[in-house]
Amino acid sequence: MNINHDIEKILVSEEEINKRCKELAKVISEEYDGKMPVLICPLKGAVSFFAHLCEQITIPMVYDFIKASSYEGTSSTGIVNISYMPTTKLENRHVIIVEDIIDTGRTLSAVVEELKKQNPASIELACLLDKPSMRKVSIEAKYVGFVIPNEFVVGFGLDYNEEYRNLPYVGVLKPAVYSK
Ligand code: IMP
Ligand code: MG
Repeated sequence: MNINHDIEKILVSEEEINKRCKELAKVISEEYDGKMPVLICPLKGAVSFFAHLCEQITIPMVYDFIKASSYEGTSSTGIVNISYMPTTKLENRHVIIVEDIIDTGRTLSAVVEELKKQNPASIELACLLDKPSMRKVSIEAKYVGFVIPNEFVVGFGLDYNEEYRNLPYVGVLKPAVYSK
């Protein structure tokens, strides 16, 4: 068993991801110098990107976690449930939410609304992947790794039924995997 064999094609390679994480971390380090930002990782999908990005940031910062899950309700708005909140006090802090992927944008916009209740000095978004063609609510990340087409992807934190998060790249599954 080797999970790499389930991949049809690699969309973003390990090398490309590492290079982009360094570039984004450099920009964040410059823009947040002296601000002691709080980087927030929505569990679980963002874990790989979050760790890689934070390791390359060279200024003082702190990090914390949030767990939000979205599912479609009976209305078209979707419902987002937040089951873990950061313990760091966010009032007057500069917050960056670091997400794996922005698809419809519903999860992240619910997270932003929830964190805004604590009156942070600022909130910005960073995402590894952006699927702008899928957007249902208006939300934009300031720091974007890669814009991708509307394809279901796995790897580097992203899962299919909780699997494939541990791949070091972002790829598309072989169709046969879905009929297993
Ligand atoms: P949305 O932006 O609220 O639609 O949801 C974003 C969440 O949906 C992400 O945090 C992922 O967990 C999940 N998601 C969206 N697109 C993909 C994909 O292509 N592969 C795996 N998970 C995805
Ligand atoms: Mg997710």
